[in-house]
Formats: sequence, C-alpha cells, structure tokens
Amino acid sequence: MKATAVAHANIALVKYWGKRDEALILPEAGSLSVALDRLRTVTTVELGGGRDVFELDGEPQDPARVRAFLDAAGIREKARVVSRNDFPTAAGLASSASGFAALAVAACAAAGQKRSAEELSALARLGSGSAARSVPGGWAVWEGESARQVHPPEHWDLRFCVALCAAGPKTTGSRDGMRASRETSPYHAAWIEQCRRDLPEALRLLALRDLPGLGALAERNALRMHADALAADPPLLYWEPATVACLQALRELRAGGVPAWPTIDAGPHVVAICAAPDAKQVEMRLRALGGVKEVLTCSPAGGARVVVPL
Ligand code: PMV
Repeated sequence: MKATAVAHANIALVKYWGKRDEALILPEAGSLSVALDRLRTVTTVELGGGRDVFELDGEPQDPARVRAFLDAAGIREKARVVSRNDFPTAAGLASSASGFAALAVAACAAAGQKRSAEELSALARLGSGSAARSVPGGWAVWEGESARQVHPPEHWDLRFCVALCAAGPKTTGSRDGMRASRETSPYHAAWIEQCRRDLPEALRLLALRDLPGLGALAERNALRMHADALAADPPLLYWEPATVACLQALRELRAGGVPAWPTIDAGPHVVAICAAPDAKQVEMRLRALGGVKEVLTCSPAGGARVVVPL
C-alpha cells in the first residue's frame, strides 16, 4: 500500500502545442523529447487513511488534482502523496511532466496494479500531456495515447543547459495557452502541419546524431510554437528580456565556432542543446547574462521507476 517512484522532466525538441481532444488529452501532432537527469521528482504514495493529503516540497497543497488523477487510475482509497522536486519548482520549470509520471508509477505500485509501460504512459498523460513522455524517458516520441522510448539515454550524450530566465511561476499555463492558440491564432494550422513534417525529420537527424541538423530544427520548432502563441488573441508572450539575451548569446557562440542551439517551452527559460565538451563554455556564457538566475546543465536520463526510499 506504499511505494516511491522517481521520474525526470523532459524537454521537447518537437513540441506538443495543441490538443485534438481536450478531455482525453490527445495531441494534434506527435512530439519528441529527451528526459533530463537533474530535473527529477521523487514521489511517495501511501494508500489508506481517512483523507487525501498532498505535500509538495514540504508544503501542504490542495489534493484535488491528485485525487482526480487517482480516480482516473481506478484508485478509490484515500492517499497520502508526498512529492519532492530536485529543482526549483517556484521558478516555473516544467514540473508537471516529472510530477505526474512519478505519481502514475508510485500510485499504481502502491495499489498493486500491474500496468505495462505503455499503459503507465497513457495514464500519466491524463495528468499532463508531456508526462506521457517522462514515463518511458530517454529519447521519447508521443503520438496518440502513449509515448515510447525511441532511443535509450546512452544513444547520444548531449548536454542541455537550462537557463532560468525568471523567478516565479509562469503567467498562462500550457493548458490555457494551447487552447487560446488553437482557437484564436491564425497560424495554428500551419504550426501543426510544421510539427508533422518536423517529427520524421528530427527522428532521422537523431538516429544519425546530427547535432547541427537537430539543433537547428529544435530552434525553428520552438520559435514557431512561440509565433503561434504570440499570434493568439489576446497574445501570449512567454519571454523575458533574459530569454532574448540567451537566444542572441547562443547565436554569437555559434558564430564563434561553439555549436549550441536553443529551445523554449511555454515559459521564459531557455534550454541550450550542445555537445558534452562544449557544455562548460555554454553554461558560463549564459550564466554571465543579466537576468539569468541559474544554469543547470543536464544529461539525458531514463524513465520513471519504482525505487526503495532512503
Ligand atoms: O504537458 P503540458 O500540458 O504542460 O504541456 C507541455 C507543453 C510544452 O512544454 C510547451 C511543449 C512540450 O512538448 O513539452
């Protein structure tokens, strides 16, 4: 009746931005991501007891979203869910992916449910779409109901320098942002078409370990997602001055012979993609920019799994 699981957040190289089914959380187009080792959530679920309790990083939270998720998993018992992020939650880093992936795995283990990796991914999706990709981890593709690992983390030892460009949570959550883009952005259909072309090309470049190819594709894909969001009514502007400073710094680094490309989720933070030997230089350059609060350099990580707590 008690289990602990860990899961890693992931960064998408071909983004998920638009649902074809809002209730079932089914994406309009496929997406590709890699799990990040230093962005980790550890969650313990204990079933039984008189009421639902949810604690995140030592603070009690409203358990409503956790309860809705447990109901979807067919778990009726009251639950005590204790979750800890190994990274700054308040900074608005994507914690929902690692959070719901860890919760899905821990809750099913605590309830004695035997689910396949695919079923666990489909379940995590109901908490947050991108969580579907944190269940298999590694290099993962999400199309339809669940995500699958297309390459293990060891396939390609790249680095992902996560530059924190603002403090505090983001303004418009991804759920509302996606809906607004889909309903009001004149560019949304073109964006979705683009993702359908980008995914097979990204998979080809990933298999070849072509960093200039994949890096440039990831940058274009992210900027086009933001173009879609910027064109919504009212407009969605996720960037801070430090976000733009990072984009420019990476452009300058590339001009100076250091290959590194940016991607940006629905928030102000920039993730720089580069080869392992260049990571220190990229990290130092981003760290020196005004407005950049911290840079966390990550490597590819594996999937969500049950662990024995310390
Ligand atoms: O999983 P959600 O609903 O928080 O959506 C994630 C959306 C992006 O992070 C912007 C893109 C992605 O594919 O992760």
